[in-house]
Parts: sequence; structure tokens; C-alpha cells
Amino acid sequence: MKISSIQAVELLRQGKVVAIPTETVYGLAGSLHSEQAIHEIFSLKNRPANNPLIVHLSSISDMDEYVADYPPHFEVLAKTFWPGPLTLILPAANVPAIATAGLTTAAFRIPSHKIALEILTLTGPLVIPSANLSGKPSSTSYKHVERDFGENFPVVEGGICEKGVESTILIFQEDKWQIARLGAIAAEDFQTILNYKPNYLSSSHSPICPGQLYRHYAPKAKLFLENRFAKATLILGFSDRQYPSSAEVWHLGSSQDPYTVAKELYRLLRELDLREKKEAWIDIDFPNTGLWTTIRERMEKAAHS
Ligand code: TXA
Ligand code: MG
Repeated sequence: MKISSIQAVELLRQGKVVAIPTETVYGLAGSLHSEQAIHEIFSLKNRPANNPLIVHLSSISDMDEYVADYPPHFEVLAKTFWPGPLTLILPAANVPAIATAGLTTAAFRIPSHKIALEILTLTGPLVIPSANLSGKPSSTSYKHVERDFGENFPVVEGGICEKGVESTILIFQEDKWQIARLGAIAAEDFQTILNYKPNYLSSSHSPICPGQLYRHYAPKAKLFLENRFAKATLILGFSDRQYPSSAEVWHLGSSQDPYTVAKELYRLLRELDLREKKEAWIDIDFPNTGLWTTIRERMEKAAHS
């Protein structure tokens, strides 16, 4: 059910949960100061209680109340990438344990979507996980949220998400910023600011929180990540490539444009379920650099979880 930003602010102030757009994916928002709203978020998503949430704010100056200590380069990271698709894990103060899943750290982000910022300015800090059932692909449009949570669920409509994949999460460990979750900002984009390219802490090796171990982004269909398509019935491929004419082809976008591919990926993964497809082949013949690294990781998680 579409609601206005003003109605969303009103509901959030009453401790209710609403869905709102961000530049990465749609989120389920609840007040950081409403334990009831946070419980409701976990229960709506069917999210395990040990998977913590990201605290979203409208400005850096609001953070001091919730952050115990700022690691080196915090300021330049914040000033360069906020508002935007970056989440920083920082030592927490005054963040309810239900939001951090009992960790001593908390995740923080200032989103850039106009509607999200407008709402946050009026409500104060909100926890906002992606607006999808736990384990499923995130929502990149109003329609996706409605499919997961029902037509009566309150959603502020804000168009198709510009990035289409979640924020990049950084954590400061062993004297360096490291990537806890690949996302809309590529590892290379931090090079000039940090003077190094942050490593990706692959969750299968060393989970920094149990939440990393759960299923992610997965449709019901069996996915084959390949670059051979002889047996393929349905291919998620690139618009500038040729595939066997025996297969149905859905376009992710051009193989020269990772931004469009990232924006389209979850919509197509969701479309597989919607059209009750049992299997699909995904063309993974693309570079291992920049945003492509995030795209590949999402495809792998969708296929193997
Ligand atoms: O782009 C985004 O970040 C979206 C939009 C809505 O802002 N939000 C989002 O939230 O992706 P969610 O809840 O779907 O993912 C949050 C991730 C989880 O993987 C969780 O494990 C991790 O952040 N996380 C949160 N707090 C953490 C902490 N203190 N330490 C390690 N990981 C943490
Ligand atoms: Mg999520």
C-alpha cells in the first residue's frame, strides 16, 4: 500500500515499521529507539536474531551519541562517500543490543536517496535492513516489497533503486579497513583515499558476525554459473552477446556496463520465482574487477546457498 513520506514519518514515530526506498535497495525501516519496531522487523523478515541491523542516520553530527571511538580515516571515508552506499562498522555506544545482536560494534550508514534522507531528518536514527524475506533477493522496486510483505504493507514509493545492490560494508581490523560485504562501491574506489585497496573478508573463511553465514539473494530456481550454454533452457546473459537460439535469453544489460547489470540483477532473480522457472544459466564471463566483483559474489551466493 503506497503511503507518503509524511505518513511514513508519522508511523515511524508511533513505533511502526514501513518500507522506504534507498539508492541501493528498498529497506524495512523502524525507529532505533523502538524495541517493538525492531522486534517486528526481525519477525517480518523471518531474520535470525543474531544477524545485526544497520543504523541509518541523516548526518555525521548525529553519530557521536552512538559511536564509542572512530578508527583512522573515518572522517575522509564519511566525507567522501556519505550520503551514499557505504556502511561503516564502528565501536558502538547506546545502540540497543537487539539491533547489534549483542555485538560491541554497530553498522552505520547515511543513505543518499532523497526520500530516505528526508524521512531520516524528521525521525532521527532508523534501523533499515533490506526489505525482503530473509534469504531472498533484495527489493529494488515498490512491487518487490509488496510481493514479499503483502499489498497492505505500507511502502513509500521511490522508483527503481539507482544502485540495485546493497551498500559496501567496511570494518577496521588489524590496522586496516577491510570489506565485510562487497557492495555498490568497488574496492578500487577506496584506493586513493586509504592508499590501499581494502581486502574482502570472505565470510566462508572468517565470519565477523553469524549473520554472514545465512542464505542470501537466492531464488528457488537452480542456477548454473557458466560460460557454456549447450544445455541451457534459460540464460541470464548480456545484450551484446550471442547465445544458442534453442534457449530463452533474459538480458542483464551490456557486458560493458556493470552499473546496469547490478541494477537489473535482483529483478531478474525475482522474476525466476515469479515465472516459476526451475533452472537458469547465468553468463559469468566478465572481469574480476570493480563492481563486477560484487555482481559475481551475489550470483555465487544466489546459486550456492
Ligand atoms: O544498502 C544497504 O545497506 C541496505 C539499505 C536498505 O540501506 N541495507 C541492508 O541491510 O543491506 P541488511 O540488514 O540487509 O544487511 C546488513 C548487513 C548484514 O549482513 C549484517 O550481518 C551486517 O550488515 N552487519 C550489521 N551490523 C554488523 C556488525 N556490527 N558487524 C558485522 N556485520 C554487521
Ligand atoms: Mg539484506
